[in-house]
Amino acid sequence: MAEPFTVLIMAAGRGTRMRSDTPKVLHRVCGKPMLQWVVDAGREAGAERIVCIVRPGDGVAEGLPDGVELAEQTEGEGTGSAVLAARAALEDGSGPVVILSGDHPLVSARHLTGLLDAHRADDAAATILTTDRLEPSGYGRIVRNGDGSVERIVETKDPSGVPDEELAIREINLGTYAFDPGALLAALDAVDTEGGERYLTATVSVLRDRDERIATHLTDDAAGALGVNDRADLMQAEAVAQARILHGHAREGVTFLQAATTRVEAGVRIGADAVVGPGVSLLGATEVAEGAEIGPHTTLVDSRVGPGARVIHSYAVEAEVGEGASVGPFAYLRPGAVLGAGAKVGTFVEVKNSEVGAGAKIPHLSYIGDADVGEASNLGASTITANYDGRQKHRTTIGDGVKTGVHTSLVAPLDIGDRAYTGAGSVITGDVPEGALGIGRAKQRNIDGYADRVEDTDEPG
Ligand code: UD1
Ligand code: CA
Repeated sequence: MAEPFTVLIMAAGRGTRMRSDTPKVLHRVCGKPMLQWVVDAGREAGAERIVCIVRPGDGVAEGLPDGVELAEQTEGEGTGSAVLAARAALEDGSGPVVILSGDHPLVSARHLTGLLDAHRADDAAATILTTDRLEPSGYGRIVRNGDGSVERIVETKDPSGVPDEELAIREINLGTYAFDPGALLAALDAVDTEGGERYLTATVSVLRDRDERIATHLTDDAAGALGVNDRADLMQAEAVAQARILHGHAREGVTFLQAATTRVEAGVRIGADAVVGPGVSLLGATEVAEGAEIGPHTTLVDSRVGPGARVIHSYAVEAEVGEGASVGPFAYLRPGAVLGAGAKVGTFVEVKNSEVGAGAKIPHLSYIGDADVGEASNLGASTITANYDGRQKHRTTIGDGVKTGVHTSLVAPLDIGDRAYTGAGSVITGDVPEGALGIGRAKQRNIDGYADRVEDTDEPG
């Protein structure tokens, strides 16, 4: 079995270049907070402990999953101060510590295992994940000696004062390291602050002066290693993550008709043979079953779509669409809309907190709220539940095989029995028994000669 290791995630930076009230590491990439991506990578790589360094009261701790320990950075600024905030965890951990930056959302388990393998192979005190395939501006550059060993890391966030030959270095520090915890703490205690910050990267020079071994692991997955300091970086990370998510689903048998206009967030599940059309967004905890057809132009938020169902030009939030059901074009499914197998919710129809039974149809221009619609019922165009009396919501129960006429208003609370009918244009305010026809509308009368009475019969002059 592999040696145990601890993961330490630095997540307490001010992140001022994001220009946001939200802490940087809580900004989302494909719907998942950056920090959560990093925690997931640590878990997948098999970390024994994960310790996250946060700033008290910044809200980062609240969103962390169970089992992640916290260390609070209450003193000092900079990545070195961040690591010192976790001194206790470093002192009582076993094996190496892997330090990750909360602003490298796409760091992968493969980066971590590659880093740890290099660390062990070289028996190093410190191993740095590097790449020479990213645009290096702003990153720390790896300065090497004539013999190729690492001399130090030069920070280039402020490039003025950095010599040109160092700015020309392409190999950069990706903020991901493996350290021997004892050597790291001893080096950090010897690091001076620069411009009010204590830099973790300054430990490299200290370790070198102490003749400790410093190794590097050059990654070929540079796109996955990029750091996020501002919203332009965030867009880049989003694009990389999105492409990876779509490719992952595609390899599992999902067809995307127009990947460039498709958004699929990190937590979404899609079955094989599903077809996702142009302009589709699948968000949150949405699940699309095998063979379903979504889009074009559909947004599903935290919703479930059953096998073979179709959802076209529609918007759904916390809704469930049964096997083989059909939704849209232009439907709005709100929380608690549950459509049975083979049900149809058609054009300009809104459904909220309602169960629509198997095979039931609501084809046109309806609002169905707080209702239960029985199996195989057919609601005529513009059937509307009046579920709110201005103070309270009431439920409408519609049995199986019911047929409402067009323009039926169902004034809740109401119970419509199985196989009942309502007349077109009815305002139904009382229960309709099983098999009955409910009609609630004024009787028609015709006034003869009306046109002659109101129209001016003289020819215009
Ligand atoms: C850092 C590295 C740089 C490297 C780059 C990779 C240092 C001094 N420089 O620069 O060599 O190329 O990352 O992206 O480390 N943080 C804290 N507490 C703090 C300050 C930062 O927890 O007081 C956290 C941040 O939340 C962030 C990480 O540490 O997740 C890195 O901090 P950041 O300020 O973004 O460092 P960079 O300037 O990008
Ligand atoms: Ca950074």
